Amino acid sequence: MKRLQLRWRNWRTEYFLLPQFDAMGVEPEVMDPSSVYVFGSNVRIGNYPHLISNAEKCIRFTTFGHKGGEAFITIGDYVLISPGVRISAAQSIEIGNACMIAANVYISDSDWHGLYNRTRPFRCTAPVRLGNNVWIGDSATICKGVSIGDNSVVGAGSVVTKDVPANTVVAGNPAKPVKSINPKRRMITREALFADAFRQAHNLDELDKMMLKGNGVLGWLRSVVFPRRGD
Ligand SMILES: CC(C)(COP(=O)(O)OP(=O)(O)OC[C@H]1O[C@@H](n2cnc3c(N)ncnc32)[C@H](O)[C@@H]1OP(=O)(O)O)[C@@H](O)C(=O)NCCC(=O)NCCS
Repeated sequence: MKRLQLRWRNWRTEYFLLPQFDAMGVEPEVMDPSSVYVFGSNVRIGNYPHLISNAEKCIRFTTFGHKGGEAFITIGDYVLISPGVRISAAQSIEIGNACMIAANVYISDSDWHGLYNRTRPFRCTAPVRLGNNVWIGDSATICKGVSIGDNSVVGAGSVVTKDVPANTVVAGNPAKPVKSINPKRRMITREALFADAFRQAHNLDELDKMMLKGNGVLGWLRSVVFPRRGD
């Protein structure tokens, strides 16, 4: 059943979701393709992306060019994008390799309304750029014009309004540096997860087996009628 379900999911990803992107690299892992929404064109994602979402917390990529121009969202390889993430570009949002975007993060390169012209996105748009291996914590907001350097981390719930240098942890509203990351220390990024694709597939298979142990029609019926801890 699990294998059938995975095939069905992969087919839906390939048939319904991938055509909505201008480019999508190899081996996308999409938990629920019907809860990933792409509005507009020029949305590109690299290899091995993990998109985790569900009907309650969908992922939204929006490009809506300002001044009649085009808008772009360009995302590198090995990224993790979590439930409830919204990435909205009026001009350009670039996200590097191996970035981790936690749940409910909002990244936008525009305020979408001007301070003096509330009907249009007037003078309130500037490109956003995240380097490689950037980690954005749960429910953080990345505002227009912000660049975040390689390896930097944004604390949960932060609002980032100014550039963040590489190897820096920022937190708060507005986000300020709270720590440094030692660039000389060995860093293990998401890329390492895919260094051995065969091992990764094997590990996921083992995980499935562990999670589904003892799972069967009778077990399922029992869990509906007599639910208990661990079901
Ligand atoms: C950013 C983070 C990873 C840093 O963790 P850490 O290295 O253990 O940091 P510390 O707890 O030592 O915090 C350092 C300082 O920053 C402050 N700080 C840390 N996170 C903060 C946040 N989200 N908002 C405001 N301040 C924060 C701490 O209060 C502390 O301040 P102090 O030096 O005045 O005492 C962590 O705080 C965080 O936000 N984790 C959430 C990650 C997440 O969203 N994961 C979801 C799965 S991807």
